Amino acid sequence: MELLTSRQLVQAWTRLNRQQGRTIGFVPTMGALHEGHLSLVRRAVAENDLVVASIFVNPTQFGPNEDFNRYPREPERDAQMLQQAGCHALFLPQVEDIYPAGSSTRVTVSDVTEQLCGLFRPGHFQGVATVVAILFNLVMPTRAYFGKKDYQQWVVIRRMVTDLAMDLEIIGMETVRESDGMALSSRNRYLTPQQRQQALAISRGLRAALAAYQSGCREGHELVGLVMKTLEQAGIDRVDYAALHQIDSLAPAVRADAPSVLLVAAHVGGVRLIDNLELTTP
Ligand code: PAJ
Repeated sequence: MELLTSRQLVQAWTRLNRQQGRTIGFVPTMGALHEGHLSLVRRAVAENDLVVASIFVNPTQFGPNEDFNRYPREPERDAQMLQQAGCHALFLPQVEDIYPAGSSTRVTVSDVTEQLCGLFRPGHFQGVATVVAILFNLVMPTRAYFGKKDYQQWVVIRRMVTDLAMDLEIIGMETVRESDGMALSSRNRYLTPQQRQQALAISRGLRAALAAYQSGCREGHELVGLVMKTLEQAGIDRVDYAALHQIDSLAPAVRADAPSVLLVAAHVGGVRLIDNLELTTP
């Protein structure tokens, strides 16, 4: 696996491989990799001639009181995992490679960002859209892979790509979970075993609502109520939101008649966790 540690190196790599007509799959990450990230890499390996992953803990998408400083950084371990998954190149930029001196251009996606996580993390999606746009310009991928674990992020990126006429395909991948249902997340490592047990109520609540949906329940407040009840019973008292939205537009939904997704953000032991479940029939 090639290590690309600067803007110039990744641009040279991209230019060479595009000239040779190779398709490039791209998996942007912030590192502290787990099976969720690797599922994206494996799919990218299956669908492209070459795959590049990036690891960059992007300062502009963290709020002032968020976990930017303590976000886990372990590039050697990550590089090993990527190599084993068949990744061809790893882009490991410094802040100046992404935000050169004087950097003042930001990408703002409106509407879809003005709800859910956007309300609780002001500026977050602007940071995400900006860094992803810059990474796309550097890597010029044929396809880029995102997890539906970060459902709103996935919708925001698709909106940006359409609106700015970016010439690539965005692939969304299902959430990878532990056997007990907990969604894999780099932030799970902040949890004590006890907190992890408590956090399990998030996926359990979503599954309870899915079961009700599959038994015919379509009322948004009832489905959301089932999630909230499960969180309360587990003693999770700081819930940013639990809400029903339509899948593609992410417009709020009163009923789950059209294809819908339930989304949750809640705090457990000072750690902010998100999860979601699309409501589908088996
Ligand atoms: P990060 O949280 O590292 O996630 C990188 C990618 O892995 C995202 O597309 C995310 O949705 C996906 N992912 C995370 N957990 C997953 C899981 N359990 N199952 C499937 N996919 C999962 O998301 C970011 O980084 C950043 O915001 C980024 C897009 C890199 C921009 O900085």
